Amino acid sequence: MPEFQTSPGMRDVLPPESARWRRFVRTFDETVSAAGYGQLVPPLLEDIGVFHRVGEATDVVSKEMYDFVDKGERHVALRPEQTASVCRAFVQHRPVTPWKVWYAGPNFRYEKPQRGRYRQFDQVGIEVLGSQDPLLDVEVIALGWRFFQQLGLRQVSLVVNSLGEPDDRAAFVVALRTYFEANLTRLTPESRLTLARNPLRVLDSKRSEDADVIAAAPRIANFHSESARRSLSAVCAGLGALEIPFTVDDRLVRGLDYYRLTTFEFVGRTLDSVQNALGGGGRYDGLVEDLGGPATPGVGFAIGLDRTLLACDDEGVFDAPEERVDVFVIDTTGGMNALLLTDQLRAQGIRTDRAYENRSMKSQMKAADRSGAAIAVIVGPDEVATGTVVVRPLRDGAEQSTVSRSELTDTLRKALS
Ligand code: HAM
Repeated sequence: MPEFQTSPGMRDVLPPESARWRRFVRTFDETVSAAGYGQLVPPLLEDIGVFHRVGEATDVVSKEMYDFVDKGERHVALRPEQTASVCRAFVQHRPVTPWKVWYAGPNFRYEKPQRGRYRQFDQVGIEVLGSQDPLLDVEVIALGWRFFQQLGLRQVSLVVNSLGEPDDRAAFVVALRTYFEANLTRLTPESRLTLARNPLRVLDSKRSEDADVIAAAPRIANFHSESARRSLSAVCAGLGALEIPFTVDDRLVRGLDYYRLTTFEFVGRTLDSVQNALGGGGRYDGLVEDLGGPATPGVGFAIGLDRTLLACDDEGVFDAPEERVDVFVIDTTGGMNALLLTDQLRAQGIRTDRAYENRSMKSQMKAADRSGAAIAVIVGPDEVATGTVVVRPLRDGAEQSTVSRSELTDTLRKALS
């Protein structure tokens, strides 16, 4: 075993998988850029106070943060998510609203690593600041839905809920706490601990021993004010109009504390129930204010790249693209000709590779095969003397030809097209 390996919950992403990651982000970019979203690239590290606003009672903040005091005595944290950073950036830069941004990149949570749950994981996401329109919630959800379709995923379910206005939610939390406290002995010890921190999260328990007591617990729908009900039905009507299938589940609670009104989750039906949330989001109308900005509504979602790619594997869609060059230069004169030719072809936009260390012709041919190139360009002493190269097709059995160096690019372009 080597002395140094990646830390638990962290991974190297090697080629060709890394190419699939790039394509994932590109597909997301294309989907949301077409809807007027611009990319925000926030730093990986923020003042820890930014994330405290995500909710001191959430595991993400209280237990899982990678935080430390830097050399300037600032208490900072690696971001566990990016919504808080987007709101911090909004308060700092005061862009014109509605501010529509997307982001992609790694986040850090000190969780127990398992399949689909890592300590460094990537998300893509969007956020819109500055509009309360429930039809914007629909737009946001629809863009997530469209993205899954672009990937080719079919086994995705959309679950929608409303956590109500802040007063509805507060009354619901009180009722939940009272109910669970009266039924304490029927809860698992883990859920009793959760109850002490955050009664809402008890609803999220996947332990079968908790199922009965949770089933009979108060329901948020009974606490919805008129405005919360109106907003939820507008969201449902919008999703219906777009023919996006969904279910309303008033047991859906999210792991972060800033939500109010619309919340939603995209669930991967092929994944284990503990890690089957491919992405989720909702409204967080108080967060900008909590971070010192003017009262500004917000809505968005984040989709987990790692988990979504696992779901793609399960469905056999969105494969790793083949990464290969088109041309492989074989030089039996020492290597300087390969240096010049690869440089010339790459400058013309032709994907080109070569071998090194002046290997034998046979060994260079093997390397050419391994590279996946369609064509070998061969230079030996005879070709150098006549200013030519040999162009040898590697796959389709076509005849090789000798061409002058000045004709090489055109010949290759024709052969490759
Ligand atoms: P979240 O539900 O905490 O929401 O994370 C969104 C997605 O990130 C999850 O559904 C999951 O796919 C992925 N994810 C989270 N933790 C891990 C992990 N440890 N390993 C692998 N994947 C993980 C948020 O982060 C909110 N900021 C979403 C949002 C945006 N709400 C409003 N706007």
